[in-house]
Amino acid sequence: MFKRKKSLVGLDIGSNVVKAIELTEFGDQMCITGFGSKVIPSPEALADTIVETFREAGIKSRRVATAVSGRSVIVRYINMMQMSDEDLRNALRFEADKYIPFELDEVVLDCAKLEEFTTGAEGGDDEMKVLLVAVKRNLIDEHIELIQGLGLTPTVVDVDSFALGNAFELNLLNSPRVEDDEKVIALIDIGAVKTNINILRGNTSYFSREVYLAGNDFTESISRRLSIDLNEALQLKMDPEGREEEIEESLLPALDDLGNEIHLSFDFFENQFDREVDEIYISGGSSSLPGLKETFERIFDRRIETWDPTEHMEIRGDRINIQELKDKGPQLSVAVGLASRLLDR
Ligand SMILES: Nc1ncnc2c1ncn2[C@@H]1O[C@H](COP(=O)(O)OP(=O)(O)OP(=O)(O)O)[C@@H](O)[C@H]1O
Ligand SMILES: [Mg+2]
Repeated sequence: MFKRKKSLVGLDIGSNVVKAIELTEFGDQMCITGFGSKVIPSPEALADTIVETFREAGIKSRRVATAVSGRSVIVRYINMMQMSDEDLRNALRFEADKYIPFELDEVVLDCAKLEEFTTGAEGGDDEMKVLLVAVKRNLIDEHIELIQGLGLTPTVVDVDSFALGNAFELNLLNSPRVEDDEKVIALIDIGAVKTNINILRGNTSYFSREVYLAGNDFTESISRRLSIDLNEALQLKMDPEGREEEIEESLLPALDDLGNEIHLSFDFFENQFDREVDEIYISGGSSSLPGLKETFERIFDRRIETWDPTEHMEIRGDRINIQELKDKGPQLSVAVGLASRLLDR
């Protein structure tokens, strides 16, 4: 048989940086064949920045998987009586009405069965845990319009936190390490406006939440505490030039706040499932913030790993700047997770 060659671009349109990862399937092997990343200088320049990202990276494929996030995306984990997938689809609108703070005709709904279980001991009810996702229709429409307007074909519109989980799953799949399926893993992606928390067990998401505290707030903290303007604060954040101690100190209150928010999420998960979070992995552009890892290790009293979703992936293509790809690895988790939808059949 001929080897099929199929490509998909994971396009992560962050609030600060556009990231694109092109994955191509050669026979049964999946390779990174394109990589681009560009800061969005202003909201008006978004479309141009996406075009430039594709052009500079030399990405030819037009099929993209993207994601939405933010306050117009509602994710809920609910318990329902066990039923068939078809019945679940029919019950969805009714069920959703109880959990979604928007009018139902304003949203696009989706759901997935997570697991079935029986409550209590004898005579308990057969229940199931269901993941419910509602996204404001106008957010999806605008998103698709933007992408189509650039001559790209949107094949998947996902949600940031699930893309993050998919990237982690792909990384495990390619990893030589054998993993314990029952381990509870917390993924924390720290971007510019938000931090995404996704708690997984056996590759299934049991909790996810966005906290609106991230890179922009860190820049503001530095600016306020050192009485310098935001541009200077941003530069110092990225490259402290011998002022590490001062910068780290100015960041401590913001990092404490974020750490405490994450802690609340862990508490919620642990109370609900009676399981502790075993391992914590951080990613996102702000995961390399000076002092962040150490502060979190102190708050959570355990080791925290920064992970790179491209770590075990094949890279092909003469236009890929491998050094840049490796430097930005942790920032590419959502883009890699989106591109991994190439595996969907
Ligand atoms: N070396 C670094 N040290 C500290 N912060 C950094 C570094 N590199 C990038 N950042 C910060 O990371 C953020 C961008 O990261 P990322 O690309 O993950 O965000 P985004 O996806 O655009 O934002 P969001 O997910 O919040 O919409 C910015 O706030 C930037 O200042
Ligand atoms: Mg992001």
